[in-house]
Amino acid sequence: MAHILIVDDEETIRQLTSQILEMSGYNCYVASDASEARNLLKERKFELILCDINMPGESGLDFVRYALAEYPDIAAIMVTAMDDPVIGEIALDLGVYDYIIKPFERNGLLISITNALKRRRLEIDNRAYREGLEKMVEERTDALRDSMQKLRKALEGSIHAMALTVEMRDPYTAGHQQRVADLASSIAKDLGFSEDRVNGLYMAGVIHDLGKISIPAEILSKPGKISEIEFDLIKTHPKVGYDILKAIEFPWPIARMVLEHHERINGSGYPSRLSGEDLLLESKIIGVADVVEAMATHRPYRPALGIDKALDEISGNKGKLYDPDVVEACLKLFGENRFSFN
Ligand SMILES: [Fe+2]
Repeated sequence: MAHILIVDDEETIRQLTSQILEMSGYNCYVASDASEARNLLKERKFELILCDINMPGESGLDFVRYALAEYPDIAAIMVTAMDDPVIGEIALDLGVYDYIIKPFERNGLLISITNALKRRRLEIDNRAYREGLEKMVEERTDALRDSMQKLRKALEGSIHAMALTVEMRDPYTAGHQQRVADLASSIAKDLGFSEDRVNGLYMAGVIHDLGKISIPAEILSKPGKISEIEFDLIKTHPKVGYDILKAIEFPWPIARMVLEHHERINGSGYPSRLSGEDLLLESKIIGVADVVEAMATHRPYRPALGIDKALDEISGNKGKLYDPDVVEACLKLFGENRFSFN
């Protein structure tokens, strides 16, 4: 049975009340003032407090306010000799379940206590249910986040495997795709891309030359000038890359970024001679990063031209071949020493 704490400065009331309640099977503890009651609360667990309002020392209302704040699972009923609606309202606002006027009848008291204990049980069960639900949602969210993370890792792993496949056949572009992806991501961040959009761009950068897999290795690593026929063959690589990737449902338009990375905004690029407004901004960024990286590093058909020549190329053709905002962002990155190729 429930444990009830009776707080009242009148001894007769304490005795009478505990007698009635003990006879109904409750375990009663009595306190003659608030400080005694506080000590009892520390010693053991109570389900209900029956508390007088007017007592010497700390008032019943102040004590109950403290008790409900410290022990939220306790139910409280106030007892008073004065039927004052203002005090009654204050008591109910505190979270007290009932307000009994002295002298009270045995039955009225017992009904009030039964109701308070029932309501308390319901509220505790409710809270436990809600907390259980919240915990379940939290656990499921964690599990979902976990599997998303694993999927993303697997996706990144597959993309790096594809990148390696091209680079193993063509050692001269080894690292090229990675460096283009790094520069393109830095430009995109400066242009205000969201983290997610930068991720998509980065992944496209890492495999933008995937289509070179279909070009004979002798042509890719041929020193000196290449013939027109050979160049025509090389120019198929964006479309080949696109055809390999287009069936994969990436969360970003990666196949299109690969397809468009050699297009130029004045329509002079390949394979489709698209102009600026038809190109993804991502494609224009990879295009600029690709040119800068390629010119800055060594190629089989020529030595490295250096970063200054590479930056001259894009600033000289800003607004003609290359998107002006992308060029500006790229020049700023190097000008402010915020980027360098590894
Ligand atoms: Fe390319």
